[in-house]
Amino acid sequence: MKFFRFDPSPCAYPKPRVSLLPNAPVLPSPLRRRSRASEHRQTARHFRHFTRGRYALGEAYQLVGLDPRGVLLAPAYHCVTMLDPALALGARIHLYPLKADLSPDQVALDELLSRIREPVKALLATHYFGIVQDFSRLREWCEDRQIALIEDCSHVLFTENYGAAGSGIHGRFVVSSPYKFFPCDDGGLLYASDAHLLDTAHTRPATLVEEFRGIKHVMERSRDTRPAAGDIALIDSRLDLMSANPAVFGNDEIIERSAPSSLFAGGAVAKASLRSSRFVVAHSSVDENIQRRRENYQHWVRATAGVPNCQALFPVLPADCAPYMFPLHIDRPDPHFHWLKHLGVPIWRWDEMADSSCGIARDYRLHLLHLPCHQALTNGQMDWMTAALDKTLRHAIKGVH
Ligand SMILES: Cc1ncc(COP(=O)(O)O)c(C=O)c1O
Repeated sequence: MKFFRFDPSPCAYPKPRVSLLPNAPVLPSPLRRRSRASEHRQTARHFRHFTRGRYALGEAYQLVGLDPRGVLLAPAYHCVTMLDPALALGARIHLYPLKADLSPDQVALDELLSRIREPVKALLATHYFGIVQDFSRLREWCEDRQIALIEDCSHVLFTENYGAAGSGIHGRFVVSSPYKFFPCDDGGLLYASDAHLLDTAHTRPATLVEEFRGIKHVMERSRDTRPAAGDIALIDSRLDLMSANPAVFGNDEIIERSAPSSLFAGGAVAKASLRSSRFVVAHSSVDENIQRRRENYQHWVRATAGVPNCQALFPVLPADCAPYMFPLHIDRPDPHFHWLKHLGVPIWRWDEMADSSCGIARDYRLHLLHLPCHQALTNGQMDWMTAALDKTLRHAIKGVH
């Protein structure tokens, strides 16, 4: 497969000054009422625990019979870890186009399927950034064609005890990544409403040493540096310095590979998540988590509303939604992405991506920033990140008027 890949090594970006994932526990407030409407009570038989969502996906791909003769339909906008487990099985992958709101383009999907000659075994559908989509039509489309729908809830708050409204109800298999929502060292969940589908899915438990190592990582991460109050005043002078000097923008390259990326470890395929991770997920407050995420997301929406050179992808947060990150489209990744990275703003971007004809995926690869809004962010960190973004996107670019 042909992949576009951005190699940042010539840029020597510093470590992000704020954690991209929750790195400290948020304790439940005794006064808050629990949101029982969205809790679901399935027994353990419906779940298998892996160390990451990618290995849960791998198990799902295997269970639906994906092999070198079978095809996976995957969304054109993706993280490589969504494709890695299919590549590990030697399967063929066809990418289906998405619309600007990241919902599947159903017309293009029909057209794509009409051109595929090999048996299509599965379709992966993703709820991006915690915004739950309605996959009921897609589910019918899959059922009519005997294609297994795998629902990707990796960006959704979906655990053994809680499922965000409307999520995890259409897929034959559902996959989520609890470590993206809770301060734990690992966690990838595989769920099937028909528990018998998981009868042959087995995992091996972590060793005691791995358990201790996991707890140590969590403790280390919780001691993350926090921007000091005075730091906002330094942003302008740093931007002046960066914009005055010639920039090194990194290499955008094309590579050909049929093997999984380095983010996929064959040895972790059937490994169970740490008991400590499951304990954290089971004992953290979901309500505080959702509320803090929503507040931080709204903070980003307000802070970027009048800023030039950028647009929020989802400026309106649906009711009850537990956002994963704040997706922001920027007009000029060169130089804005680079300046933000040099300031130490925490950003993820899916800049390694398999090539497709989807214009949205091609555009979002370098233009869509994933910014943290998790529950462990402090007001000071939010103020610093939004100030850094505001100042960067307003900063004059040499030679551009
Ligand atoms: C939408 C989506 N699906 C699946 C995955 C794989 O999840 P994990 O990181 O738990 O392996 C990711 C990874 O970031 C993702 O963003």
